[in-house]
Amino acid sequence: MSDILVHTEAGIRTVTLNRVDKKNSITSAMYGAMADALASAVDDAAVRVVLLQGHETVFSAGNDIGDFLNKPPAGLDSPVFRFLKGIATFPKPLLAAVCGPAVGVGTTLLFHCDLVYAGDNAAFSMPFVNLGLCPEAASSLLVPQMLGYHRAAEALLLGEPFMAEAALEVGLVNRVLPPTEANDYAQSVAKKLAAKPLSSLVETKRLMKKGQGELVLKTIAEEGESFGRMLREPAAKEAFGAFMERRKPDFSKV
Ligand code: COA
Repeated sequence: MSDILVHTEAGIRTVTLNRVDKKNSITSAMYGAMADALASAVDDAAVRVVLLQGHETVFSAGNDIGDFLNKPPAGLDSPVFRFLKGIATFPKPLLAAVCGPAVGVGTTLLFHCDLVYAGDNAAFSMPFVNLGLCPEAASSLLVPQMLGYHRAAEALLLGEPFMAEAALEVGLVNRVLPPTEANDYAQSVAKKLAAKPLSSLVETKRLMKKGQGELVLKTIAEEGESFGRMLREPAAKEAFGAFMERRKPDFSKV
């Protein structure tokens, strides 16, 4: 069974994170598979909408920590950056259905989606500071824009999680549903979109996003540089070592 499932039917490409035993944490191979699924959808007339989804119990625990430490992303052509650029520039409607934990990139990727449907068990968190790291996926730009600065500081400086209802209130999600219904509901919205004129959808999305496309890509690159450097520094080493050893990190010396 593949860790990323890609299924295209009736104009909808559904990309499913399928590594539930590891809480859908994302390896570089999985980033590569998702980046390919997006890239090939851009010019494929059979794909009018893409839906990203996880399992009703978990969306994603973010980067696979072991994989990340063994194979840190090397440059902007690496699978993770291909994926981030893919979601940031995807011209057709991009939907997500999110249930359970959505950690790190599991939350930041949602800021690039056009419509997001959440199970009432969804828990969003961007604990980069707690990991000795900094924001990624242009979240340093997009989170303050959507949440306002002070709520962004709670999410990004304190790394505090927030639940589905709070995400609904700030506009990160469009609707909260029972977890068993979130994927199906997102699929039904994708079906509605797939029946609309694609040229109008693409042009409308382009016009809505045109103001800051370049800035988003520039921010992804700048964050990526810092993130890559910080991954090798003592704070991140302590945080990831603590996760592997199932203990609390001690940042008193870093
Ligand atoms: N990378 C690698 N493995 C991960 C992982 C990650 N990000 N998140 C979870 N896993 C693995 C665990 O090591 C465990 O593996 P095991 O069964 O072989 O021991 C399995 O997934 C289940 O995780 P567990 O922590 O027992 O599940 P939980 O339900 O108690 O908690 C989370 C779920 C998502 C809250 C918790 O796993 C977590 O906080 N993960 C780390 C998230 C993180 O910091 N991500 C950011 C990376 S930049």
